[in-house]
Amino acid sequence: METIATPSQPGNPRKFPESFLWGTATATTQIEGHIQNEWTDFVATDGGTCRIACDSYHRYSEDIDWMGRLGVNSYRFGIEWSRLQHAPFAPLNRNELERYIDQIDRLRAAGIKPMLVLHHFSNPHWVNAVGGWTNSKTIAAFLDYVRKLVKALEGRIELWNTFNEPDTYACLAYLLGGFPPCNKWKLHRFRKVIGHMARAHQQASRIIRTESVGGERAQVGIAKNWTFFHAYKRFSPWDRLTAAACHYTFNKFVLDAFMGESRRHASTFIGLNYYGRVRFHHFSAMIPASGAPVKRLKDFGFVCDDMVERYPEGLGEILTYLQRKFRLPIYITEHGAASEDETFRERDLLNNLGALQRAIAQGVDVRGFYYWSLLDNFEWQFGYSKKFGLLSVDFKDPRLPRTMKPLGEAYSKICRANAL
Ligand code: FCB
Repeated sequence: METIATPSQPGNPRKFPESFLWGTATATTQIEGHIQNEWTDFVATDGGTCRIACDSYHRYSEDIDWMGRLGVNSYRFGIEWSRLQHAPFAPLNRNELERYIDQIDRLRAAGIKPMLVLHHFSNPHWVNAVGGWTNSKTIAAFLDYVRKLVKALEGRIELWNTFNEPDTYACLAYLLGGFPPCNKWKLHRFRKVIGHMARAHQQASRIIRTESVGGERAQVGIAKNWTFFHAYKRFSPWDRLTAAACHYTFNKFVLDAFMGESRRHASTFIGLNYYGRVRFHHFSAMIPASGAPVKRLKDFGFVCDDMVERYPEGLGEILTYLQRKFRLPIYITEHGAASEDETFRERDLLNNLGALQRAIAQGVDVRGFYYWSLLDNFEWQFGYSKKFGLLSVDFKDPRLPRTMKPLGEAYSKICRANAL
């Protein structure tokens, strides 16, 4: 396990750059509740559904108070397309829009800068009914939505995330079958989805930057999930091949689609979601999220949260790579650990922030860090079994009370000090 933080500024050893954004992140389907999209009828492996989730649809102002207590100065969250348009090219629903505007205005009044996510693993029913993002017509429908939204928000948003983890979405929906529509091994659909989303990103970025009030100040990027894929045994040819195929498909192909050639200028920043690594042994992914037994992982000496192997060393590597390749500012749009063990989570956070601080000291232009997640929430196919929150939510109590966790306290100190 690596050591924590090296000096980034002489005399002020553990400081982060001034104006660094310290945030936390959520997604509509995971926290809002009362949503009508492809997840509404989806039952997770623990039997849970997203129907009520954290009820943040009604409790967003309470959630903002909690963010004030945490001392974050930014919040990355979504607006749910299915709430705003009941049909293709329809006018935006006024009431739903006003609720989101109220949320944004309250955030800004609390000194919390919003980063808005336009697509995070969910679509309106009418989009799914025509094949979702496998259908090129979805691009035009999405752009119409973006154009109307950008106008309606009247310059309130500077930081825009068009697509969250298109790689994860397309992989789980069309290759591994974990997300609706639960298709398996439809590689051509995976590639289509990525291609269509990449086109939509490029055009949405132009709309945001030219048609929004104050568009010249707008910053636009995707959030790319970066996972390292390695073979457990360096000399196992098949595991190396599997790792290389995953790297090619989920990292290289996706990054090229969104940011290669003419698309290079569609982004003004890179959003990086970073959790860790997947190692392969005899073709199996050695991570809890794929069902590898925890005891076996321990015997192999792997350090994992309840999802993937932790690999803080990789954070510096990927940051340096992205900086060299694109020369754009970077935001870490998600990092977090799921575990009931708060000491483990704190160590994981410090290790990753240490790696981040070293990368910044070496000249990588990272502008912000968003902890996943504000609340324990509906973790897609795993339901409520994965505890990623800075705050816990008591899902057994119908009032869904929130409580600060030890990690929330620890993160709060870091945010307030802007230092480790
Ligand atoms: C990311 C997703 C986010 C959450 C975290 C744990 O891949 O963007 O919604 O599921 O993982």
